[in-house]
Amino acid sequence: MAQIEKINLKQHLTHKVFGIVSDIVETTGEQAFVIGGYVRDLLIGRKSKDIDIVVVGKGIELAENVHKAFRGSKLSVFRSFGTAMVKIRDTEVEFVGARRESYRRDSRKPIVEDGTLEDDQNRRDFTINALALSLRKETFGDLIDPFGGIADLEKGIIRTPLDPAITFSDDPLRMMRAIRFATQLNFTIEENTLKGICDTAERIEIISKERICDEMNKMMMSQTPSTGFKLMDRTGLLKYILPELCAMKGIEKVGGRGHKDNFYHTMEVLDGVAATSDNVWLRWAALMHDIGKPRTKRYDNKLGWTFHNHNFVGEKMVPGIFKKLKLPLDAKMKYVQKLVSLHMRPIVLSEEEVTDSAIRRLLFEAGDDIEDLMLLCEADITSKNEEKVQRYLRNFKIVRRKLKEIEEKDHVRNFQPPISGEMIMEMFKLPPSPMVGALKNALKEAVLDGIIHNDYDEAQKFIINKAKELGVENIPNNLSNK
Ligand code: CTP
Repeated sequence: MAQIEKINLKQHLTHKVFGIVSDIVETTGEQAFVIGGYVRDLLIGRKSKDIDIVVVGKGIELAENVHKAFRGSKLSVFRSFGTAMVKIRDTEVEFVGARRESYRRDSRKPIVEDGTLEDDQNRRDFTINALALSLRKETFGDLIDPFGGIADLEKGIIRTPLDPAITFSDDPLRMMRAIRFATQLNFTIEENTLKGICDTAERIEIISKERICDEMNKMMMSQTPSTGFKLMDRTGLLKYILPELCAMKGIEKVGGRGHKDNFYHTMEVLDGVAATSDNVWLRWAALMHDIGKPRTKRYDNKLGWTFHNHNFVGEKMVPGIFKKLKLPLDAKMKYVQKLVSLHMRPIVLSEEEVTDSAIRRLLFEAGDDIEDLMLLCEADITSKNEEKVQRYLRNFKIVRRKLKEIEEKDHVRNFQPPISGEMIMEMFKLPPSPMVGALKNALKEAVLDGIIHNDYDEAQKFIINKAKELGVENIPNNLSNK
């Protein structure tokens, strides 16, 4: 036991359930402890609504007794796992008998036997997650910290209690958890533990993509998400999870001319949007915004390095990546695609003269996501040349002002052409055909180019002239003179 002085945290065990458990085990003669994440979070001042209680004895029976003591609580028993959960208002208290676990190489499903508290602590992932507080009356609140978890918590260290090779191959998801905790808590992964992840990285392949993404999304929602992705890269995990991101690493040179390292640039952009928005999908868009660059990279003697159309190639890559990672293939994915596709537009606009027509088009295509697009583009300016950064940001201010002016004037953000396809078919007695599409498109373009206003009468006049020009036969008389 590494613990030297006795620490008692009785004053923190204020939830009624702890007293009730203490009373029950007094009668049964069992040992019970609150353990894991709840103890860790209590020590670092994070609120937690999940309490894990480990019993050297019968976990399910203890849960049943606790349920009886709390009127209105809900009991769920998972006999095959030997666990039970009591929900008391919004707190979930999980009960489990102390256990020993041994794992097989090809599965996360362990062989479980009854064990001691020490066995139970040994099977946990990190020293900071193996802390236990006694719930027996005579030792209520005493800390049991066999692996120096308190010291690691104070120093900000993630470390496995056992040889990392054992802890990680018992459950390879823990490699992601290590990196996630390091990212969330701004902790450092201890050297030997980090090496353990490097050595075991390949085994991440037995973990479901849903679980991997749960961890990745927790990293994403941290203050500095790049920490997690850089650690995944450093340990070799990233190439199994997001090889498309690994492909962005490195600087190629031709005749002394290099391009920037697109992986590290992406990391800066990711942290940049994290500083201005809590939207997790905007963060995913930042992660993916240059994902098409490796596939479009060319060297041209005159132009140097180019990545033509990387935004469109990136947009097309997004569904495949989302599918593989089991991320939602719904409006959220479409939103990420849209931002990846449009991320060059405000930059191009800011470099040229900002015409009303270009602003209208951008507003029309971005719709309600225009603000998020601007946040992404502002974060995308990561040049080391401060003068250049300031120039871009100044130009973006002009773009933003123009966007506001044009939207107030023309309302094109969620614009629907004033004459629909159906109306065109009826007006000219046309069947569904490419001609209907051509007329509809000409109308949309005319509004976006500012040739006509977004107005029914002007649209009608325009479309009749256009129909004549394109040789449509049935031009209605009563409208044709208008
Ligand atoms: N645990 C583990 N290995 C895992 C998952 C969990 O050893 N792969 C142990 C840890 O002791 C952990 C406890 O089970 O503290 C509870 O797990 P969980 O509720 O998933 O995570 P927390 O540590 O509470 O953290 P968070 O709620 O942030 O996920």
